[in-house]
Amino acid sequence: MSRYYLTTAIDYVNSRPHLGTAYEKVTADVIARYKRLAGFDVHFLMGNDEHSQNVFKKATEEGFHNNPVAYCDRMEEQFTSVWKALNCSYNDFIRTTQPRHRAAVQKLAQAAYDAGDIYEGVYEGWYCVSCEAFKPEKDLVDGKCPIHPTLTPEWIREKNYFFRLSKYRDRLLKHFEAQPSFLEPEIRRNEILRLLDAGLEDISMSRAGQSWGVPLPFDADSVVYVWFDALINYATAVGYGTDDAQFAKWWPADLHVIGKDITRFHTVVWPAMLWSAGIEGPRQVFGHGWLHYGGQRMSKSLGTSVDPMEAAAPKFAPDAGPDPIRLYLTKEITYGSDGDFTWERFEERYNVDLANNFGNLVSRVVSMADKYRAGRIAAAGDGGRLADVAGAALTRYRTAMDAFALHEGVAAAYELIDATNGFIADNAPWKLAKDSANAARLDAVLFEAAEAVRIAAVLLQPVMPSSCDEILRRIGAPVTGAALRLGHAAWQPSGERTTVAGAPMWPRSETASSRREIIVSEPAAPAPPPAPTAVAPAPTEAATADARIGIEDFLKVELKVARVRAAEAMPKSKKLIRLLVDVGEPEPRTILAGIAEGYQPEQLVGKTIVIVANLKPRPMMGTESNGMVLAASGPGQPPILVAADDSLPPGTRVG
Ligand code: MSP
Repeated sequence: MSRYYLTTAIDYVNSRPHLGTAYEKVTADVIARYKRLAGFDVHFLMGNDEHSQNVFKKATEEGFHNNPVAYCDRMEEQFTSVWKALNCSYNDFIRTTQPRHRAAVQKLAQAAYDAGDIYEGVYEGWYCVSCEAFKPEKDLVDGKCPIHPTLTPEWIREKNYFFRLSKYRDRLLKHFEAQPSFLEPEIRRNEILRLLDAGLEDISMSRAGQSWGVPLPFDADSVVYVWFDALINYATAVGYGTDDAQFAKWWPADLHVIGKDITRFHTVVWPAMLWSAGIEGPRQVFGHGWLHYGGQRMSKSLGTSVDPMEAAAPKFAPDAGPDPIRLYLTKEITYGSDGDFTWERFEERYNVDLANNFGNLVSRVVSMADKYRAGRIAAAGDGGRLADVAGAALTRYRTAMDAFALHEGVAAAYELIDATNGFIADNAPWKLAKDSANAARLDAVLFEAAEAVRIAAVLLQPVMPSSCDEILRRIGAPVTGAALRLGHAAWQPSGERTTVAGAPMWPRSETASSRREIIVSEPAAPAPPPAPTAVAPAPTEAATADARIGIEDFLKVELKVARVRAAEAMPKSKKLIRLLVDVGEPEPRTILAGIAEGYQPEQLVGKTIVIVANLKPRPMMGTESNGMVLAASGPGQPPILVAADDSLPPGTRVG
């Protein structure tokens, strides 16, 4: 089995993780889980970066002056509890204050020193404590670090040891040329190429007069500079300096997942450090974009930070666990670009992608299998159209995931989900069930739908591990959990399955915030009813105001997207057409609509319309009408249906 060693950046522990730092861990976890699904022996490393001045300062403020490590212990608990809440499946969690790391840092520093790449000098210049980086004058904007404009950089002058980074410029350029995929995405590679073109200066690799850090093996009065120290964590964790066999097994790392702000450290400084010590550089680095909150930088001090714990148990779906936020972060943001989060958008996507779409599909398939076949379904034939869609989705998914286009991988799985919804609507199992002559066709339709759901759950398992395992269980999949491999996403035209009914996976959220966001404008006030008395008082402003409805009244009306599956004229009626519409429920509804003056029945089939879904059923002309179709008509004009976009799945709430 091929091995795959994958890491994330290690976090400074001067504050708790926010959803931006969590974004990195979740997406790296999706990659780790995908690689396991693809059959790799994965080693996934996460950890904390503790030797930072800000961490030391925070520890002091919190009363841990004599024991900053105890502060870091406390923070480790906080970080790991967040990562567990988000279901991050790391195999190892490193901390830079661990003895194994001290051994590795000292070994690598000594090796670079012995190679003649470290020399003594004096550093004089600016230092941004928040970046933990030396800042050349030319990089400052109005004298401030562009990343931390609220802080003033420190001017320092101290004895430092320097690392001969300049010596590695040509080798780096050649490396970038020979390995175009070394740094992804392309925009990040171009940034670094520009930097290399401009030339490299040697960098400081130690700090004088500080106790917080790993002492230099060749000068115990100085500690290793926090970045030189931190980068080595990736080697430490797989045995560098402590376990040669382990190191030989796992090094070089296959992928470092990091933020776009720290690509220079990982693709210029880090390979040069390794080369200096006679070690191979990492194979690949992916610099993801940043997550913003409502268009602003995520920051505690600006009040724009989102607590990942809250996102893993959102108020609108407290029992759904971390899978909805994992899906949001993976599906809604082009991996490699910046993305945005708001609670409203998160809730909206939850309702559309999970409650109305995937969740509803699972419920329909399982409940129909239960109702028509007592939960036992069996393969009948090779699978038709859906099997082809599933095959194409798998190919597209693999290509996307292998290229770290995580958002496209998820989109491929959703194509299959959408096609399965359409397949059910087109084949109308509820109709087939009415006639025993259709029994074989009904068997085939139920199995095919269940098989497509199974495959979608396999593809989405790296993104939503717990929910997909539950879906696989409900659908009666023969293989679930850690035993799943990508090969299981192939169409399986044989076997018998027992489905298991359950409560909705993702109940629709009805909290005020989701409604508030999707309502574009309030509806016009209905005309007041005619006055019952002969002498009606002239309407006053107050009376007019009284006639308007509040938002709470409007919200009582459930407007939903529906797809017309069948339409026929009502005999003896000039106005009414009987519609059979798919509203994303297990069975379609019958609605009598007064639109015959505007449409021929056959024009209506396939149209995506909007209905009032929570109207009490009304008996009309010997039929029960179950809802109301929205249509507009000017005076003397035939009615025109209110149309919705065809991409909206039936059942989507409109507001
Ligand atoms: N300790 C260094 C990394 C050393 S790796 C050898 C560091 N720590 S950090 O805590 O500031 O950031 C950790 C990771 O989170 C970095 O990859 C950084 O880019 C990422 N992010 C920080 N804020 C982020 C967002 N708002 N959005 C996405 N990622 C973000 O840098």
